Amino acid sequence: MTGTKRKRLHVITWGCQMNVYDSGRMADVLAPIGYAPAADPDGADMVILNTCHIRDKAAEKVFSELGRLRRLKEATGNRMILAVAGCVAQAEGAEILARAPYVDIVLGPQTYHRLPEMVARAARAGGKAGGRGAGVIETDFPPEDKFDQLPQSRAPQGVTAFLTVQEGCDKFCSFCVVPYTRGAEQSRSADSILREARHLVAQGAREITVLGQNVNAWHGAAPAGSTSGSGSTSVWGLGRLLRALAEIPGLGRLRYTTSHPGDMDDDLIGAHRDLPTLMPYLHLPVQSGSDRVLAAMNRKHSAADYWRLVERLRAARPDLALSSDFIVGHPGETEADFEATLALVRAVKFAQAYSFKYSPRPGTPAAGAPSQVAEADKDRRLRTLQALLRDQQGEFAAGCVGLDLAVLFTGFGRHPGQIVGRSPFLQPVHVMGQAGLIGTESIVRIIANMPNSLSGTLVEERRIA
Ligand code: 5AD
Ligand code: SF4
Repeated sequence: MTGTKRKRLHVITWGCQMNVYDSGRMADVLAPIGYAPAADPDGADMVILNTCHIRDKAAEKVFSELGRLRRLKEATGNRMILAVAGCVAQAEGAEILARAPYVDIVLGPQTYHRLPEMVARAARAGGKAGGRGAGVIETDFPPEDKFDQLPQSRAPQGVTAFLTVQEGCDKFCSFCVVPYTRGAEQSRSADSILREARHLVAQGAREITVLGQNVNAWHGAAPAGSTSGSGSTSVWGLGRLLRALAEIPGLGRLRYTTSHPGDMDDDLIGAHRDLPTLMPYLHLPVQSGSDRVLAAMNRKHSAADYWRLVERLRAARPDLALSSDFIVGHPGETEADFEATLALVRAVKFAQAYSFKYSPRPGTPAAGAPSQVAEADKDRRLRTLQALLRDQQGEFAAGCVGLDLAVLFTGFGRHPGQIVGRSPFLQPVHVMGQAGLIGTESIVRIIANMPNSLSGTLVEERRIA
């Protein structure tokens, strides 16, 4: 498999930032065996569909996309290797091969370091009569650590990079498939994370977003010879890790996502106070403002716990902008419960938020609960909540007008001469500016807010590196 001919790899990514990261790493793993990224699936030697299972009609979406890819595969004389990865593959691997037998490889999120071997198997079995795929399936949770097996050298991710430090979840919220598709919590060692972070910065990253399904549950082996913040244990928490990352020269900005309120410890809250590079924006899902629903969701925190946490975070970092996820219509949710969610939103004031109608995920406890909420009630509640959240997002953006904000430029805007970057609060900011500013941070005076972005004028260039 080490032929010299370059092969074209196209990866389609759905879902969360971790899937974006995983797609990049799958490309890294395949690079040594000759695969180079291709922008288009048409005529590609290999296409990977990296799927998401979290909400909505995940499986149906996969099968309809596979129908489209099947035609592209046929157009290559069935030479194209077609792989399905990610959480739908993990949850429905056998079903995928049964319903879409032209698929060659099905792999879960924990096995992609084994892709070269799977590709070799698929190539050996390839070109079966009638366009049947190779049927290679790897959806177990292997004993070896995937991150130890991945190559260090990675295609540059650009100015803003993702870095997975933790995977899986032990929380078992009633509605969520993640503990089943991504498995139990696993933390990478601090050494391997710091090595990857330095490498990303050397390749041009100026901002790193530390990723985990439950990122603030991260508890990784401390670097050899180091101590924890409080003593001599050999395990670090996320606050300590962020402090170490903040010391990497050239790294101007740090973020982390997604957190569970129950895992926000003192050291992590203290990191928001102590680290100027830790951006004042936190995605901290609360899901509901009703204690009854939170208990049914197995969230292990009350609305008051969340509110107290917000107060502590804001005391540590007064300009902290908060974001959250919400689910409306969880089984058993009444109008009064929904009103409690609205009350919590009014009290906290979110800068940004994502809200969803509850959708039953097979195999999760809530899916089998008797008190499912009528679709019409879910629709109405979602509209009401989204209107409130939209107003709050607009108010937050309007409050930025007139401020001088540090903006890290990441690329070109839609109009000639325009460049775009991110504010500390993760809002896209457009200015007229030189291409040479991309990759650097500048101070921008915000002059207007649009529904999903800000615009401003350059005040001062402040090159990070
Ligand atoms: N139905 C609706 N929303 C869900 N989420 C997770 N599972 C479900 C589900 N079954 C939402 C949660 C989570 C976000 C990533 O997706 O709000 O925080
Ligand atoms: Fe899912 Fe997040 Fe709950 Fe874990 S903490 S079960 S990932 S919603």
